[in-house]
Amino acid sequence: MNPINIPTQPFEGQKPGTSGLRKKTRIFMESGYLENFVQATFNAIGGAKGKTFVIGGDGRYFNDRAVQTIIKMAAANGAKGVIVGQGGLLSTPAASHLIRLNKTDGGFILSASHNPGGIDEDFGIKFNMANGGPATETLTNGMFEETKTISAFSIVEAANIDLLAISRQSIGDMTIEIVDPVEDYKILMASLFDFEKIRSLFSNGFTMRFDAMHAVTGPYAKAILEDALGASKGTVLNGVPSEDFGKGHPDPNPVWAKELMDLMMRDDGPDFGAASDGDGDRNMIVGRNTYVTPSDSLAVLAANAHLAPGYKSGLSGIARSMPTSGASDLVAEKLGIGSFETPTGWKFFGNLLDAGKVTICGEESAGTGSDHVREKDGLWAVLLWLNILAERKQSVASIMADHWKEFGRNYYSRHDYEAIPSNAADRMFANLIGKLNNLASKKFAGEKVQSADEFSYHDPVDGSVSEHQGVRIFFNSGGRAVFRLSGTGTEGATLRIYLEQYVAANGDHTLQTQLALKNVSQAALDIIELTSFTDRTQPDVMT
Ligand code: G1P
Ligand code: ZN
Repeated sequence: MNPINIPTQPFEGQKPGTSGLRKKTRIFMESGYLENFVQATFNAIGGAKGKTFVIGGDGRYFNDRAVQTIIKMAAANGAKGVIVGQGGLLSTPAASHLIRLNKTDGGFILSASHNPGGIDEDFGIKFNMANGGPATETLTNGMFEETKTISAFSIVEAANIDLLAISRQSIGDMTIEIVDPVEDYKILMASLFDFEKIRSLFSNGFTMRFDAMHAVTGPYAKAILEDALGASKGTVLNGVPSEDFGKGHPDPNPVWAKELMDLMMRDDGPDFGAASDGDGDRNMIVGRNTYVTPSDSLAVLAANAHLAPGYKSGLSGIARSMPTSGASDLVAEKLGIGSFETPTGWKFFGNLLDAGKVTICGEESAGTGSDHVREKDGLWAVLLWLNILAERKQSVASIMADHWKEFGRNYYSRHDYEAIPSNAADRMFANLIGKLNNLASKKFAGEKVQSADEFSYHDPVDGSVSEHQGVRIFFNSGGRAVFRLSGTGTEGATLRIYLEQYVAANGDHTLQTQLALKNVSQAALDIIELTSFTDRTQPDVMT
């Protein structure tokens, strides 16, 4: 039971500013790799002595072994206790909740989010802090520095913990609580939403399919949708977490959740469809014959949140990431509450939520959430939609049509160009940034540029400044194009082009999305000169 100190080589771990470390699983399995990250984290937070942590992950390959390692390292580093999801499972939002509920000092979440899992796919780890949210930039900088100088890690030699039995165990002085991963989360959801109303919606024949994509939300969705809310058995598709997510990408978008999309696009399809990602923080919302963009979903949830008990006294404000469409700004304006535009990444919402400046926030990448935890929360978004549908007794399509009639419609799509050679991407961006000051009033594909800038964010709570957060081009037509390089891609550079076209309340809201964005899209390609820097003509993914 005595801690042993094992010499280790420094390695470049989590990059400063990112909220986790993602690598190929085989790299994580190399001796000392995961251990480096965990020890560096303990060192960066001033040691683990006397502290408590939450541990769990999305069930992908290596999840169970990683959980055992972290438990033994916590014990060796003098932690007082750990709370572990049964089977080593915890969704990201549930982990965030457990950290807050039990007032722990933070938690380790094992996931590479929507990336595929398996021995030849991806693994990941992130540390969340005592507020339940992703590590701040200051902490990730500290962790990164530690990984560069670390020379040993501490671990106890002990038998593996039984992760399957709900139980209280111990290693030396450290207690290990194995908890039901769903229970406390379900109680939280029941405190926010009118379960009675949603139950009667289902008992009156409302039909739904939730695609858990073989990932962690399966048990959550079954316990809440089928067992607590009475949705019929079979509502949850792909509901058993598997180590390789059924060999798919657990990424809730029309491309990867195609089976669900096809079902929803049938005239005799279910009333409502939803999906969530590997670790349960993202969501996709779809009605019969109606795909709801994440940006629109954020706006509709904000406009209708007061219909759910947890938000009946209204919202304090709404935050969206910069590339997310302006639809939620229009809602905030009408409600007379604050609206905030932050850089991409959930961690920027944390300060606004902690300070009570916003209640709801979201990103175009299928992340929506509120101040109930400090992560985006896939099932939360689904339940808020259900609560709204139960109150309004309208179809998703008619709720969207009403919304656009009131606020106008922000047609929206993201085009991704993946695995671009990094040097080509860098040259392309240097060229783009170099000409930003000369773009105003120039015309591209019939679109006149109103203004162009590189987005930087001044955090209104702690005063910190984050620069170079993407390029924004505003057009006179009410269109916008945004360019960013992905921070999570694993191969070369991923260029994301975010396209938006606003059509006012009295305009035509029935256009096909890509058609509505045609000019803005062509103008964006002309401005960034994609074809002169790369050999690309078509995006790899359009969402
Ligand atoms: C992507 C999404 C971003 C999200 C992040 C983590 O980052 O675009 O909204 O916060 O994953 O889930 P990106 O690859 O664009 O840097
Ligand atoms: Zn995720």
